Amino acid sequence: MRLLTIEDLDLEGKTVFCRIDINTPIDPKTGKLMDIERIREAAITVHDLCFAKVVVASHQGRIGRYDYIPLEQHAKALSEILGKDIRFVEDVFGPKAREEIAELGSGEVLLLDNLRFIAEENLEYEPEQAAKTVFVQRLYKLFDACVLDAFPTAHRAHPSIVGFSYLLPSCGGRLVVKELKALNRITTAEKGPYITVLGGSKVTDRMEAIEALISNKRADKVLLSGLIANAFLRALNKIKYSIGISGEDEIIECARSLLVRYPQVFEIPRDVAVERKGERVEIGIDELNKEDVIWDIGAKTIDAYSRIIRSSGTIFMSGPPGAFEKEGFETGTEGLLRAMASSFGTTIVSGGHLTAALKKFGIKEWIDHVSTSGGALVLYLAGKSLPLIGALERSAMRFGK
Ligand code: 3PG
Repeated sequence: MRLLTIEDLDLEGKTVFCRIDINTPIDPKTGKLMDIERIREAAITVHDLCFAKVVVASHQGRIGRYDYIPLEQHAKALSEILGKDIRFVEDVFGPKAREEIAELGSGEVLLLDNLRFIAEENLEYEPEQAAKTVFVQRLYKLFDACVLDAFPTAHRAHPSIVGFSYLLPSCGGRLVVKELKALNRITTAEKGPYITVLGGSKVTDRMEAIEALISNKRADKVLLSGLIANAFLRALNKIKYSIGISGEDEIIECARSLLVRYPQVFEIPRDVAVERKGERVEIGIDELNKEDVIWDIGAKTIDAYSRIIRSSGTIFMSGPPGAFEKEGFETGTEGLLRAMASSFGTTIVSGGHLTAALKKFGIKEWIDHVSTSGGALVLYLAGKSLPLIGALERSAMRFGK
């Protein structure tokens, strides 16, 4: 893989479009940012571009969800981390945004508003088509170059990832280079058995990746928790009612087919924790009823999964096994992360929530590679080609010396 870095492009005094990913966990009650680790990571690249006019852009949340909010708070956080004023514009490609970009001076930074406020940024395109979107066409002439540093969004062929980079000399930011170096080091030295521990709430993305992980020899065993475990429990008819996820029928069919084709691979929870009268109560799967919300895995599951984790060669964990931010329901997440921390295998922990959990439990430094990327890293390990990396490779071929 060959890609250009900031030093390969002459960016002094130039106007640079810098695509970062500061999509941040949001408190559903207050609407406030909950963890600013991704903003801290992105700040390194923005800092290192201090000799240019920098237009920073990111998405936040998904349409229709509580985390689909403007980036004003992000601008404040970035400003505090960098110790300098970050301008913010409530616009993405309209006249207000274009005016602010044109007025930028060297060393100044402007953050555009949530990219997903514009329709095109919610769709995937071939690079040539992405370059023809209204979003890219309205802005690209104002830029001299593009820096791609949104590693957590590397799997999305959105205009901000593949469109500008189709038209402008483009290089990887610090985070992209750091991630690729670390992953390359790990994947050339690792050994089996390979274990993937999956949790969290992004079921569709994970389902797509499981088969690729298994065929790319990244998953001799898959330990399931979180919403994705519920889908498999439903496929096995151990949960007999709807689990309330969108596209449920298709997801369950997919789980069923994976179970038939790979009967030895999947481990499903033996017990779970639910809330009854405000308390954590652990019950067997057969005791679950329709009113129960599963908030965590139970002690028997934690014990069984921990044993597998400790006796494996390479362990990759993505998505928290339980709602660790909810008092009384952190046990599963803490238990499995501690098993990872004490394992002699090579350990990779992925995603913003697990990164925050590692920090909360004070064991981050015991993990070999911690990445704030979730879905993108899963697909990278599954051997899938990622649009962001493809864009950087094309630019290296076109503009590299
Ligand atoms: C993530 O958090 O995984 C990235 O920011 C991508 O977000 P998305 O899954 O909503 O595209």
